[in-house]
Amino acid sequence: MPGKMAVIFGASTILWIVFAASAQAFKIQTSPESRTLAQIGDTVSLTCSTTDCESPSFSWRTQIDSPLSAKVRNEGTRSTLIMDPVSFENEHSYLCTATCKSGKLEKGIQVEIYSFPKDPEIQLSGPVEVGKPVTVKCLAPDIYPFDRLEMDLLKGTHLMKNQEFLEDMEKKSVETKILEATFTPVLEDVGQILVCRARLHLQEMDSVPKERETIKELQVYISPQNTVVSVHPSPRLQEGDSVTMTCSSEGLPAPKVVWSKKLDNGNLQLLSGNATLTLIAMRIEDSGVYVCEGVNLVGRDKKEVELIVQEKPFIVDISPGPRVAAQVGDSVVLTCAVTGCESPSFSWRTQIDSPLSGQVRSEGAKSTLTLSPVSFDNEHSYLCTATCGRKKLEKGIQVQLYSFPRDPEIEMSDLLVHGKPVTINCTVPRVYPYGHLELELRKGDAVIKSKYFLEEMEQKSLETKSLEVTFTPTTEDTGKVLVCRAKLHIAEMESELKQRQSTRTIYVSVAPRDTDILVSPSPILEEGSPVNLTCLSHGFPAPQILWSRQLITGELQRISDNTTLTLTSTKMEDSGIYVCEGINQAGISKKTVELIIQASPKDMQLTAFPSESVKEGDTVIISCTCGNVPKTWIILKKKAETGDIVLKSIDGAYTIRKAQLEDAGVYECESKTQVGSQLRSLILDVKGRENDKGYFPPELLVLCCASSLIIPAVGMIIYFARRANMKGSYSLAAAQKSKV
Ligand SMILES: *[C@@H]1O[C@H](CO)[C@@H](O)[C@H](O)[C@H]1NC(C)=O
Ligand SMILES: *[C@@H]1O[C@H](CO)[C@@H](O)[C@H](O)[C@H]1NC(C)=O
Ligand SMILES: *[C@@H]1O[C@H](CO)[C@@H](O)[C@H](O)[C@H]1NC(C)=O
Ligand SMILES: *[C@@H]1O[C@H](CO)[C@@H](O)[C@H](O)[C@H]1NC(C)=O
Repeated sequence: MPGKMAVIFGASTILWIVFAASAQAFKIQTSPESRTLAQIGDTVSLTCSTTDCESPSFSWRTQIDSPLSAKVRNEGTRSTLIMDPVSFENEHSYLCTATCKSGKLEKGIQVEIYSFPKDPEIQLSGPVEVGKPVTVKCLAPDIYPFDRLEMDLLKGTHLMKNQEFLEDMEKKSVETKILEATFTPVLEDVGQILVCRARLHLQEMDSVPKERETIKELQVYISPQNTVVSVHPSPRLQEGDSVTMTCSSEGLPAPKVVWSKKLDNGNLQLLSGNATLTLIAMRIEDSGVYVCEGVNLVGRDKKEVELIVQEKPFIVDISPGPRVAAQVGDSVVLTCAVTGCESPSFSWRTQIDSPLSGQVRSEGAKSTLTLSPVSFDNEHSYLCTATCGRKKLEKGIQVQLYSFPRDPEIEMSDLLVHGKPVTINCTVPRVYPYGHLELELRKGDAVIKSKYFLEEMEQKSLETKSLEVTFTPTTEDTGKVLVCRAKLHIAEMESELKQRQSTRTIYVSVAPRDTDILVSPSPILEEGSPVNLTCLSHGFPAPQILWSRQLITGELQRISDNTTLTLTSTKMEDSGIYVCEGINQAGISKKTVELIIQASPKDMQLTAFPSESVKEGDTVIISCTCGNVPKTWIILKKKAETGDIVLKSIDGAYTIRKAQLEDAGVYECESKTQVGSQLRSLILDVKGRENDKGYFPPELLVLCCASSLIIPAVGMIIYFARRANMKGSYSLAAAQKSKV
């Protein structure tokens, strides 16, 4: 085709050269010079002018003598042919003829036209849906000359189709050319572009667009699919329940989810445009098929779910249970509750139609009977009747009374003494029903006594029940625990077993016993010597020691609470009875001891007056004195062959008037106190008138030695040992020893 055009152009050029040769006087010019290209509808002006001609005349014609289809305007040496607008009629070679006096010149201009006014247009046969073939049309509108048109259709960089419209043009007209391609979109096409490119192959036409293109982004769709519904809690419901249904659907663009309900006539009633549909307070009429539909531009996908709402059964519930155990004085609330009825009516009564003795309050689906305080009047079976329309239900509850307000009390002497029987009294106050009371007394792990008070109760009352046990505690019981356990078995309600207990720890005392006094060194003492009186007593807890002295009146005078009573220097007045008491909480144990303090022997004297050596016929007084020792018996004796002769003395004094020789001899004085005796002796010497030697019967020594009495013998020994200085001397200690 470009070749075809070139041939035509060549022919016209030759034509005007011929004309120019015949007229040399003036010249002719045209603008454009030989050719112009214009788009249909534009305005085109062809100008023809002359030089070297004063007043030329112009004429225009087409080479094939068709009408000009243009206006001519002549102006001096120039003529303009105006085509406004340019159309198919103007596609000619226009010849301008200029005539001057000297001649005639002619020049031709080829007018060529085209039409390529708009960018191509992309049209799709429908939405671009993944998997569904779609036809893309690319339209190049109002094209001329369309046999020069070439079109490309690309998806991204992929050329889907190319076409050159090489058809013969039967007539001159603008035509819309269409390039069509069909493809099946895939997911990867999302975001792709479609490109439609149109090219009009006109030669040497740099000034006009040869190529136009249009880009269209591919909008890829996915029809809703995999629509899923979840129902919570369940599609089977009861009146008043709530249900939540959630729907999801996949697609591109993301489908909009719509909930509807299928009506009886099959139509759908739109409920919500939300993925989650919550239906509350469902009624039976709400049963039915619910439809969730995922919808987007390219399609819809639905899922159905059937909800079944069942009638709520009419139920009456009574709480706290079929039985309730209530303590006398407490407050009890019986509740009667109805489900499955909007506004029931309630009534309460006792089974034996006695007064309710309580307060009824009904509100909505609930009615309460408050028994406060609970008393014996309330020990009944209560019946609650609920009425809902024609339906009527009755439920009963039995109120079981009990009283067990305090732990049992253990009554027992605070003082348990080993071996002494004691009574334990375990008492449960204000108990009911006492016919179900079990009392048990344990010592450590052992049950001492238990009792089940299976008594018939003649009347309802609170009573105090007790369990008594007498036992004899022993020291081994100390530390063990006494437990008094009370169990109240409330009829047929083992779960309601009430148990209370009290404990006491046993502490057994032992009364003081085996109280004994140790005297060191001896209970009989010489005045001035020390003595320790130690008292021992056994018991539990360890007895306290109390020392007293018994007064003459018999009363006791407390002197010490030390174990050991120490007298560092005894006096005569310390003699007497000392009492030790071992005392603890369990008793007293006593022991006494007598202390005897004796005067010192130096106080006792045996003297002869005027002398121990007298002459025959003299008067001699032999005198025995005992100082200030009270309660002293004095015995004055004269030692003789035939035995001791007790002399009659007055206040210890014996007078010998007219002393005879036979009066000479050993005189002895024995002073006796409660605990012992002391002896003093002297030898009286009676001298004859003729101043001869003193008489001393020689057999006396024999006598003395033969004597069964040791004391005089000792006296004799002393006598012989101290012949020269006849002075009586006696050791108390020796006397004590010999006496024992
Ligand atoms: C969907 O439900 C959510 C949360 O329940 C709510 O915020 C939203 O407004 C609802 N949208 C429509 C369209 O009902
Ligand atoms: C034990 O206690 C009960 C109730 O206090 C009383 O009736 C009973 O006399 C008591 N028995 C003794 C031995 O104290
Ligand atoms: C009396 O007891 C004290 C202290 O134990 C002791 O020092 C003293 O010798 C005792 N006296 C006698 C006479 O036993
Ligand atoms: C004995 O008791 C007396 C007071 O009565 C006290 O001064 C003395 O220290 C006690 N002696 C001992 C050994 O406890």
